[in-house]
Amino acid sequence: MSRSRSIAAAAVVLGALLGARAAMAGTPVASTQAQDRAVWNAEGGAGHYKPAKPVGYYAIGTTPTPAEIAGWTIAIPPSGAGLPAGQGTAAQGETIYASNCAMCHGTFGQGKNGYPQLVGGVGSLASSAPAKTVGSYWPYATTVWDYINRAMPFYAPHTLKPDQVYALTAYLLNMNGIVHSGFVADATTLPAVKMPNRDGFIWKDPRPVTHNAACMTQCANPVTIKITSNAASMNLTPRLTGPVDHMKPGK
Ligand code: HEC
Repeated sequence: MSRSRSIAAAAVVLGALLGARAAMAGTPVASTQAQDRAVWNAEGGAGHYKPAKPVGYYAIGTTPTPAEIAGWTIAIPPSGAGLPAGQGTAAQGETIYASNCAMCHGTFGQGKNGYPQLVGGVGSLASSAPAKTVGSYWPYATTVWDYINRAMPFYAPHTLKPDQVYALTAYLLNMNGIVHSGFVADATTLPAVKMPNRDGFIWKDPRPVTHNAACMTQCANPVTIKITSNAASMNLTPRLTGPVDHMKPGK
């Protein structure tokens, strides 16, 4: 709640109290309704929506250099495009894992102290206690590489070398029984790995396409907008209670 809105809310309460007092004392008091409406309109009326500030308005910052952009553009997609040179084996990964990962994820990837489990859980996703691990949940080995490379170890992301990330990925895949112990992870082998849950995702969004452009200026008055349906009424949002819904195209 914004400060002015809480003041407005307080004013309503105060107004009600004053009104009650006045009624008891028999003295007429001007209704605060008109004032409330004025505050409300000022906050939520058409005048509230201002166009975005022009670029450069604050006169701060500089255009990033290609090298700076490259430092952030590290995403590796499912296809594995952009995976760097290098390689690693499960045996190499075991050593790196023991000193950098096991303290949180457990020696066998079983999870520890509330940190996520990375191994096991295949077949549990449809149960009442789904274990979303690398083995049970992740659809691609390439994005496991991406995730470790961008986010792990938790306390020091971006400190692992590509070879180390390849070795860790190989080790996690091996612990999950997806590749054999002699597997060498690299830019060619990772995209070829078929993960157990590869076909378990809905890739086509069943929700209807809407073509409304976002309103930035001269927008409709919120007071006149009527909500005619919502995601829940179209059976697109899982309920929080009762049986788990399956996504269905809206009618
Ligand atoms: C300090 C504790 C810690 C350490 C050390 C650590 N992790 Fe993690 N890891 C986490 C946490 C916390 C998450 C969940 C992060 C989130 O969901 O945003 C996570 C998530 C992950 C996931 C994704 C799990 C999933 O299925 O969602 C993988 C894979 C992973 N870590 C691998 C590693 C590897 C490999 C290392 C060693 C290089 C490592 N982690 C070291 C705490 C840690």
